[in-house]
Order: sequence, then structure tokens, then C-alpha cells
Amino acid sequence: MKVYRNAKLRHKTGLFDIWVDNETVHDIVPAGTLTLPAEEEKNLNGRLVCEPYVESHIHLDYIHTADVPKEEIGSGTLFEAIDKWSDSKSVLTVQDIKDRAYKGIKAEMRNGVQYIRTHVDVTDPNLTALKAMLEVKEEVKDYLYLQLIAFPQEGYFAYKGGAELVEEALKMGADVVGGIPHYEFTKELGEKSVKKAFELAVKYDRLLDIHCDETDDAESRFVENIAAEAYYTGVGSRATASHTCAMSSYNNAYAFKMMSKFKKAGINFVSCPTENCYLQGRYDSYPRRRGITRIDELVEAGCNVSFAQDSISDPWYPLGNGNLIHQVDFGLHLGHMMSMEQIQSGLDFITINGAKTLSITDGYELKKGNKASFIVLDASDELTAIRERAHVILSVHNGKNIIEKKPEEIIKEPF
Ligand code: FE2
Repeated sequence: MKVYRNAKLRHKTGLFDIWVDNETVHDIVPAGTLTLPAEEEKNLNGRLVCEPYVESHIHLDYIHTADVPKEEIGSGTLFEAIDKWSDSKSVLTVQDIKDRAYKGIKAEMRNGVQYIRTHVDVTDPNLTALKAMLEVKEEVKDYLYLQLIAFPQEGYFAYKGGAELVEEALKMGADVVGGIPHYEFTKELGEKSVKKAFELAVKYDRLLDIHCDETDDAESRFVENIAAEAYYTGVGSRATASHTCAMSSYNNAYAFKMMSKFKKAGINFVSCPTENCYLQGRYDSYPRRRGITRIDELVEAGCNVSFAQDSISDPWYPLGNGNLIHQVDFGLHLGHMMSMEQIQSGLDFITINGAKTLSITDGYELKKGNKASFIVLDASDELTAIRERAHVILSVHNGKNIIEKKPEEIIKEPF
């Protein structure tokens, strides 16, 4: 038995002791109220403990590819980045991609992530990235849950044979069906690609997550196709619309109508705040749009929304470090979500909401009887954690301390 003493838990007053028996939470009790023989003790000194972070949208096969081949200064738009990537990816090997993915995984794990959903580009006749990521998934499984999306970066139809490659990837073991309808040649082909993605999700009994309307084009409305397909096929909450940036350009009457449809369909939304405020608004002078989906309205409508990193130094976005609390900070700012209640709920975007998007059902919540997987932030409460973008100083996975860091220590200050 191990005990983690004096933990501050979210939405609870007072401090608690978390007792862990092997891989499981034996009990969580008010501090000092349970005495059992403990082989190991850790005093958390009132720090905030919560469920592990969930990365609900990243491209691990693209990590640190911003300079492959040599980076050129360009327009900074999404579509330019896809073209750059198309030129670069043929030179990457399985080992290359694994090395890059591990850099991203380590960066994320050091920052408290224990669950990652990664899009894997399958518009490649050799499926090199998928082969690499299937190996990685197996290798990291004792420390990290990795979910792989068969993602046709260059389209189901815009890339000849794209649809067949997505299906092949599912047969090889990809967990989730991807898509990118706004990149297809026509609206009709975009709609057809959404339909095809749902057909595959039903046929192979997989989850679905589509890059959707990642553009400022107010005419890009594939999100309605995703909602309709999710509703009529019964895929429902197993479907996710990532990005939906165009929603910030829709007229209010249309957006208002769609909110109730999204709720009815049960689909999840993923917003990538730093990535999209960088990539979108590129065709605007001023006023310049933020390119972020309607986070506040979606939450208000009762839809599940999570925040994600998307990129770590790739042709789409040169920065990114895998520390999801930055996404919470940006997301709350860009979504105008600064009431105390909204800030208190901020960590939901990278914890329970992400877990819902990934359809994690086996005991994610930190409670008695569930797996002992949680993280400790170097902060006493949610407000401080988000305001200071607190570091994760301990990550416990199935009862094991897998990441430990020293809390920030001030060596010197003037007064
Ligand atoms: Fe993405």
C-alpha cells in the first residue's frame, strides 16, 4: 500500500489522502483519517491532484518536421502547409517517424499526459507512418494509451486511392476513422468523404474523428454532415469534429440552428486554440478573425469540447511543446470564458472532456476502486494552476510514479 498525503482535489474543500493498493485506488479519505501500513508515503503539501491530461488531437508523425525539407517562409496558411508536407513525407522512414513520435510522446508525458489520440497520415501507398505508429503504440502501452486515427491528410478523393488507404489502415489496426472534407476538390466530394468515413466507422466498428471546416470560409459547413451522419447512423458520441474553425465565421442564425442539432447528434468537438489562431485569419487584413470555433456557445449548448495541441513544430505550426495547460489558458482567453466558474472548469477541457472524446470508459475518473492514475500540479487550486500555467510535478500511472519533477524553487529574489 502507498499513500499520497494532503492532496487538494478538484471541486472539494479540505485535503485528502489517496491510498493506493498496487494499481488501484484503495480509498480517498480526508487527510489523516485512515491509518494503514504504508510501504511508501508522499506528502503533496496541499497541491492540486486531478485525472491525467488527455491529448485529444495531435499529429505525432509530424513532430519536428518543420524543417524537412528546409523550411521556407511562406504564407502560413493551412493549405500551404499541406503542400509542404506532401513534398516532405516521402523521405521519412519508419525509424524516422518513430524517433519523432517519441520526442512528442515524451514531451507530453512530462507534462502529465497519459492518453493521446494521434492522427496518422495514411495518404501514402506504403503506409510508412502507420507502420511506425502501430509499433510505437505497442511499445508504450504500459505507460500511455495511444489511439491511432487513419487520417487521409490529402483527402479521400483529392488523393487518388485515399479512401482505399483509409480502409487498409483500419484493417491494419487503426482505432479511429479520419477525414478532411474541406480539402476535397468540391463540396460534393467533401460530403461524399464524410459519408464514406461513417460507412467505414460502422463497417469496422471504429470511432471517428474528422478534421472539419478548418478554414475561415463561412460556406464550409461539413460539420452539419458529420452531425447528420452521427445522428442517423447511431455513431453519435463516438464521432468527433475537430477544429470547426469556420463556425466562427457562420452567421448567427445558422450557428444557432446547428447548436441543438449538435447536441442531439451527441458529437464531440476538439479545438486547437494556439494552432488555429495562428493558421486562421490569414486572408484577413483587419478586423482579423481568431479562427477558433464557438467554444463558449458549444459548451453552453451542452456539447462536449476538448482542447488539444495539434502540432509540435511541423509545417503547420512551428512552436508547441505538449504542455496542455497552455491550451487551456489560450482557449479560455480566445473563447471569452473568464467567469470564475468557467475558470474552475478549465481543466475539464484537457481531462474529462478529452476522455469522453476518446471514449475512455475503463475507470478514468479518480475515485475509489478505479485505476490509480492521476497527476499532481504545482499549484494549490484550479485558478492558480491555470493563471500560472502550473507544471505537473508527478504523474502516477496504474499505481506507478512514471514522471517526477522538482517543484519550482526560487534561489534568489530582491525582496
Ligand atoms: Fe490536426
